[in-house]
Amino acid sequence: MLINFSQPLKNLALAQKLTVLLLVIFIGGISLSGVALANILNYKAQNEITSQASLLFHTLNSVRDYTNTEVTPRLSANLNSNQFAPQTIPSYSSRRVFEKLRERNNEYQNFSYKEAMLNPTNINDLADNFEKQIIQKLSGTNNLQETSGFRSLGREKYFYIARPLSINDASCLRCHSSPEIAPKEMVQLYGNKNGFNWKLNTVLGTQMVSVPTNDILQKAYQSWFLVMGIVTVIFALAIYFANFWLRRYVVKPIKRVVRVAEAVSTGDMEADFGSASKDEVGSLVEAFTRMKISLVMAIRRLEQSRADNR
Ligand code: HEC
Repeated sequence: MLINFSQPLKNLALAQKLTVLLLVIFIGGISLSGVALANILNYKAQNEITSQASLLFHTLNSVRDYTNTEVTPRLSANLNSNQFAPQTIPSYSSRRVFEKLRERNNEYQNFSYKEAMLNPTNINDLADNFEKQIIQKLSGTNNLQETSGFRSLGREKYFYIARPLSINDASCLRCHSSPEIAPKEMVQLYGNKNGFNWKLNTVLGTQMVSVPTNDILQKAYQSWFLVMGIVTVIFALAIYFANFWLRRYVVKPIKRVVRVAEAVSTGDMEADFGSASKDEVGSLVEAFTRMKISLVMAIRRLEQSRADNR
């Protein structure tokens, strides 16, 4: 059943009808544009978060690659089998580059990079429960190469990208299989308990970049409130001025015409409809003025003929 909206409007004054109509348009418009804007801003924020994480990921992997292909061969050539330099380790260089990035730039304070392992060489790389779940997911049968999502730590919400870490090259086993084979200086630095007995071609951990999202989402909310605020103010002004205009140029002149017409109808022929504007309301005033003149002339003629007849 269709509800007849025009019925309740019938009893309202013109200005009230206009206000109701504008309010309906306003509420409809603001809800639609609010939802659309929220979606756009959210999409943009997600995009920004993802691309920040992705850029950091690719950069740190390039650092690893650079260390592996250019630094390690040069440095290792000068080391005997007992000596060890952490600078030859890709994972060490990517961690150090990331630490420097954070030290020098305040805006990266909450970013994090971790090569989280079930059995790490550097004990700081030990996976926490959440990271263990990711490692489990990545070592599943479907050979997942990347996973991403959100993680809450305290009041901050992070977006993370995680990829599996494994060793596919037998040369890695020199340091990651047993403390007897590993360089003595390395065992002195890192101990002989952890980071050994790694298996080739199995997922041992995950390389994970986490980017804080609160700031970016906060900015998106602020933009939303700002735009919605501006739209609301514009609509409120439009409703106010439309009402003002309607009252002044339509309602008031019509009310005067009504008042004067009533006066004329009760015999007050001196009542004046006043000056007319050049619009439709003006035409109405002119028409009434002409009607009054005709009426006055007709009455005079009637009185004249009555007087003549006497
Ligand atoms: C010369 C010894 C050595 C060799 C060879 C070596 N690593 Fe390591 N690796 C280390 C040390 C030492 C660390 C800890 C570095 C640090 O302090 O972050 C490490 C750390 C790692 C980490 C980070 C997690 C952790 O255990 O703390 C990964 C992943 C890793 N190595 C993979 C590899 C792979 C893959 C290769 C072969 C391409 C390889 N390593 C070869 C010594 C070595």
